[in-house]
Amino acid sequence: MGTALITGGTSGIGAEFARQLAARGHDIVLVARDTARLDAMAAELRESGRDRQTAVEILVADLANPKDTDRVAARLGDRQHPIDVFVNNAGFRVSSRLSNPDVAEHDRALDVMVRAVLVLGGAAARGMRERGSGAIVNVASINGQLTLSGYSAIKAWVRVYSESLSNELRGSGVTVTALMPGWVRTEFHQRAGTTKGEAGRGGIPNFLWLEPELLVRDCLRDVDKGRVISIPTVRYKFLSWLVKHLPDATVRWVSRGISLSRSNEAES
Ligand SMILES: NC(=O)c1ccc[n+]([C@@H]2O[C@H](COP(=O)([O-])OP(=O)(O)OC[C@H]3O[C@@H](n4cnc5c(N)ncnc54)[C@H](OP(=O)(O)O)[C@@H]3O)[C@@H](O)[C@H]2O)c1
Repeated sequence: MGTALITGGTSGIGAEFARQLAARGHDIVLVARDTARLDAMAAELRESGRDRQTAVEILVADLANPKDTDRVAARLGDRQHPIDVFVNNAGFRVSSRLSNPDVAEHDRALDVMVRAVLVLGGAAARGMRERGSGAIVNVASINGQLTLSGYSAIKAWVRVYSESLSNELRGSGVTVTALMPGWVRTEFHQRAGTTKGEAGRGGIPNFLWLEPELLVRDCLRDVDKGRVISIPTVRYKFLSWLVKHLPDATVRWVSRGISLSRSNEAES
């Protein structure tokens, strides 16, 4: 089955990719910053195999740091130990306003969710094209269809980048899939301090929350079929279709409403 490398593989969506890819028989390379969590996840994966022990490698890297990103790119390009599935997943919610004179958070977000996605996606693509097979998954977001923030702009970039890379690799045996999650119950929301009361709930209606298991299962099915866009569940497929067909001014109006309710939530 070969080896899968997952950035942000210690929590939420990335950890679930690691579990499900290990269960499919892949060896795993995990990338994140927190060494203790990387060790704990590696131990979980090694113990989880029924018929075989999953080989797990960890790479401690801060993808906001270009030197760390280059180290991960070098691992993706290692011809002796090829990577067959690459999940470009690490990311975080950006809360800073676009008019904030301090752009440090935007800089970090662009480094982790744009620059590293580009550098690592390119490294994975070169190795896979050479071997004539492989799969790349880039975690975008339905948020990228809205106009909520710098985060929306970044996730719109990830989707367009994925479709463009897929065009570039057409016929090479390498597939590229942009995963477009809606709201998923992970640490993402707590880390951003955007939820109140019941963990992971915030002001979002219950039916819109997804569990990572379902999201990743659906996505891997789409990857198997070579789909370029993976949108989980019928309700999100419908919402995505609706947003695509609404006038731009209506999408901006809806986005303003969501942004306003978020800033009221943050202030209360
Ligand atoms: N949860 C949602 O509702 C949702 C919806 C749409 C899209 N997404 C996207 O899904 C992806 C995963 O999010 P999640 O919900 O699973 O969040 P999460 O539970 O907070 O996990 C984030 C993962 O990324 C790693 N990470 C964060 N910053 C990093 C950095 N600078 N360098 C290396 N690794 C870093 C974290 O590990 P360390 O902290 O140890 O580095 C962790 O493993 C993100 O791209 C996010 O934008 C999430």
